[in-house]
Amino acid sequence: MSALRFPENFVWGAATAAYQIEGAAHDDGRGPSIWDTFSRTPGKVHQGHTGDVACDHYHRYAEDVALMAELGLRAYRFSVAWPRIQPDGSGPVNPRGLDFYDRLTDALLARGIDPIVTLYHWDLPQTLSDRGGWTNRETAEHFADYALAVHARLGDRIRTWTTLNEPWCSAYLGYGNGVHAPGEQDPGAAFSAVHHLLLGHGLAARALRSAGAETVGITVNPADVRPADPASAADAAAVRLVDGLHNRIFLDPLTGAGYPDDVLEHVSRLVAPTFVRDGDEKTIAAPLDLLGVNFYAPTYVAGRTDGAGGGGAYPGTEGAVEFLPPAGPLTDMGWMIEPAALTRLLERIATDYPGVPLMITENGAAFPDKAGTEHPDGPGQVVDADRIAYLDGHLRAAHEAIARGVDLRGYLVWSLLDNFEWAEGYRKRFGIVHVDYLTQRRTPKSSARWYQEVISRNGL
Ligand code: FCB
Repeated sequence: MSALRFPENFVWGAATAAYQIEGAAHDDGRGPSIWDTFSRTPGKVHQGHTGDVACDHYHRYAEDVALMAELGLRAYRFSVAWPRIQPDGSGPVNPRGLDFYDRLTDALLARGIDPIVTLYHWDLPQTLSDRGGWTNRETAEHFADYALAVHARLGDRIRTWTTLNEPWCSAYLGYGNGVHAPGEQDPGAAFSAVHHLLLGHGLAARALRSAGAETVGITVNPADVRPADPASAADAAAVRLVDGLHNRIFLDPLTGAGYPDDVLEHVSRLVAPTFVRDGDEKTIAAPLDLLGVNFYAPTYVAGRTDGAGGGGAYPGTEGAVEFLPPAGPLTDMGWMIEPAALTRLLERIATDYPGVPLMITENGAAFPDKAGTEHPDGPGQVVDADRIAYLDGHLRAAHEAIARGVDLRGYLVWSLLDNFEWAEGYRKRFGIVHVDYLTQRRTPKSSARWYQEVISRNGL
């Protein structure tokens, strides 16, 4: 295949999240989060794994930043753990928690790596969850205070601020099907969480902007929703419904159009949306300098009338929508591999929500890598040709979107390190760097070396 070059100044980097890599769960005054509680609840996380130690990044960040520099990363997206900054979720700020991100930021800048902050990657302080979590409007207000506290310490050095990571997951997996913390299964709570997450974003975005933040954005995980049968009207209706619940319910209000009527009507059949107050949609529509897009796999759906299918990850689709089992080559998560879906998705967002620069803030794949003595390629070698193929395909798809006119500013691979993959614990490995959890030894996989080359050539 011919050489592909990305635009000048295209941002190349990697992403992680606090609870998935930091460990140090009790260090320096950190309070408990919903993931500490959830991972200790029997049956919720694979083999009872927790983030207590994870990749011990809290203590090994200097080594990890050196590795990023070796790989040539230009940007690093990390999340700040709210319970380190405000152990109870509100009230006094814990300076020792901020000290860690201060050190990390300086280490990145010293190596010429641009820090991209995510303020909320799912680790809600437990105290706030005890008071209803994202179903409580006050959580949105506390979130804006917390955002300001982080900005007050790091705002002189960090340019790019994103509020939430994937509010779809926080709301529907946290409160809809209960696969993620806090593990509730209540459609009304899920929609109330959607709204309060968006409100929290709007309040925090406004606060960050008035405090002088240069680039303010949010990361979503929009879905490329496709019909099982392109000729079927029932399948088209299922696509419309799932697209509404996954994409338009977030992107329309974020970009100023308010909640779509069809979505509000669907929600109203499950819960009276009294949590949406006058003025909220205006707050949510705070100007966006950047929209982060996380993408892994497409979603295929079919319309049903026989009561089968659907589920709490899309409240109210029970009996009406079938989510097709993934087909073709799959990753270790059982997710489909279809790079063309990324091109379609980016083009669709650029068309329907014009004027907002995009960045792929996560893309990557889990495969069952082995390293060290276990590995057939010999000690110190992790050959992950399957991951390279996945990344190569998706970078080509991203390039195609750019060629078709999409304003795509960068690509951040998920993830720098193997890490705690939420309900899957440590059994799913997404890193371009292998982590041996017994020794904490880091081994760059062949995908890391490949990515290093891609970055140095600014292309494929
Ligand atoms: C995304 C999450 C990230 C990671 C990847 C695999 O939904 O944002 O933390 O778990 O999936």
